[in-house]
Amino acid sequence: MNIVLLGAPGSGKGTQASLITEKYGLPHISTGDMFRENIREKTPLGVLAQSYIDKGQLVPDDVTVKMVAERLSRDDCKKGFLLDGFPRTLSQAQALEKIVKVTCVLDIDVPLEKLLGRLTGRRCCEKCGESFHVSVIGNTEICPKCGGRLYTRADDNEATVQSRLDVYVSQTASLIDYYKEKGVLRRVNGDAPVNEVFAEAEKAMGI
Ligand code: AP5
Ligand code: MG
Repeated sequence: MNIVLLGAPGSGKGTQASLITEKYGLPHISTGDMFRENIREKTPLGVLAQSYIDKGQLVPDDVTVKMVAERLSRDDCKKGFLLDGFPRTLSQAQALEKIVKVTCVLDIDVPLEKLLGRLTGRRCCEKCGESFHVSVIGNTEICPKCGGRLYTRADDNEATVQSRLDVYVSQTASLIDYYKEKGVLRRVNGDAPVNEVFAEAEKAMGI
């Protein structure tokens, strides 16, 4: 299973990836998480990535492709993987094609007007990495899953979210047609309770 999770910012890619990984043991490769780890560790890649992420823009393709190619070359990806947030441009999709064959692309579909609220209300756990929403967990600072500390992502403010959504529409949404033409696209309704989205995703993946 070489799976790509496609979907706008806040559509639930990370949430579904975590459920898929837990049940099927596929390595979860999130380019956003990889950049944030580099930012935390203050690597040169992290410094570069931050200058784009803070503005809600995409990190340049060459840097992003190199990082993903290295990750996919590791042994744990030999039996399959779950890419979350990559590819996001046509050029990234073409580069990926040269590295590996993608067998299923799940497009998590949520009306764009619902995403701003999802993202500005998101809280992430420092310890386990899980995402929650204030409408579900309330104003707590403690992770309901592992007891770690919750924080708000720096790019989850209204202005940056708006720019991320614009970037999605102008640079990423066309990948839906790209993968449709290749016959690997599966649409999943992401505007439903998390467990229902997961059940639909499992069906779409044929597992
Ligand atoms: P990244 O970290 O990938 O952010 P994103 O694509 O903007 O997506 P998010 O992580 O914000 O949302 P998600 O779809 O994972 O939703 P989640 O499950 O958390 O990328 C960040 C930045 O890094 C980019 O802006 C870019 O700068 C850079 N970058 C990354 N990849 C790149 C690439 N390939 N090329 C260039 N640059 C790149 O859910 C969101 C919220 O909704 C949570 O609160 C959650 O609890 C809630 N929620 C989830 N599912 C549901 C549901 N079914 N119903 C109700 N609420 C739900
Ligand atoms: Mg995510």
